[in-house]
Amino acid sequence: MIIISAMSEGRVIGSGEGMPWNVPEEYERYLETVAGQTVVMGRRSWNIFGKDLVDTDHIVLTRKRSLDGAKVAASLEHALEIAVDTGRMVFVAGGSSVYGQAISFADEMYLSTIKGDFDGDSYFPEFDESQWDVVREIDYGTYIFRHHSRIN
Ligand SMILES: NC(=O)c1ccc[n+]([C@@H]2O[C@H](COP(=O)([O-])OP(=O)(O)OC[C@H]3O[C@@H](n4cnc5c(N)ncnc54)[C@H](OP(=O)(O)O)[C@@H]3O)[C@@H](O)[C@H]2O)c1
Repeated sequence: MIIISAMSEGRVIGSGEGMPWNVPEEYERYLETVAGQTVVMGRRSWNIFGKDLVDTDHIVLTRKRSLDGAKVAASLEHALEIAVDTGRMVFVAGGSSVYGQAISFADEMYLSTIKGDFDGDSYFPEFDESQWDVVREIDYGTYIFRHHSRIN
């Protein structure tokens, strides 16, 4: 399972109903990465970003019994079971509460750091960087993409 996120240099991932930066090239890269794969996300993130997902299987974590346009799961474990059954790559795409639950299960993380400092109200969790290798790092100008792989 791969965690995918964009954050500021101060770990901000969101502000209100969106992200506090305007870096469409990073968001497009995210959409290209998850296209055709399986995406697990929290219900708030689904409400904000779900409309942009193309040809993905989406599994939304919620205590609600159903949601239009998505499979639902009432626990991360159940969401990951459904996700694995799709046979596609499984991405966990936020938000903050879901990253916090998922990080200990993740094998890989695709993290973009947006250059600059931004105010927000949602953060990417702290993680022990000594447990992760950065196996790829690309500076795209407005943001730096890093592929982190868990050290076994
Ligand atoms: N920068 C990025 O890459 C990125 C990506 C995604 C999101 N974001 C940002 O993150 C923020 C949203 O994060 P958030 O933490 O507030 O919300 P969230 O994680 O997207 O969704 C929270 C909701 O998910 C459901 N949920 C979470 N864990 C659950 C569990 N174990 N069992 C059942 N339901 C569960 C609950 O839904 P119910 O209330 O329906 O029960 C909960 O209210 C926004 O600012 C958004 O813009 C940023």
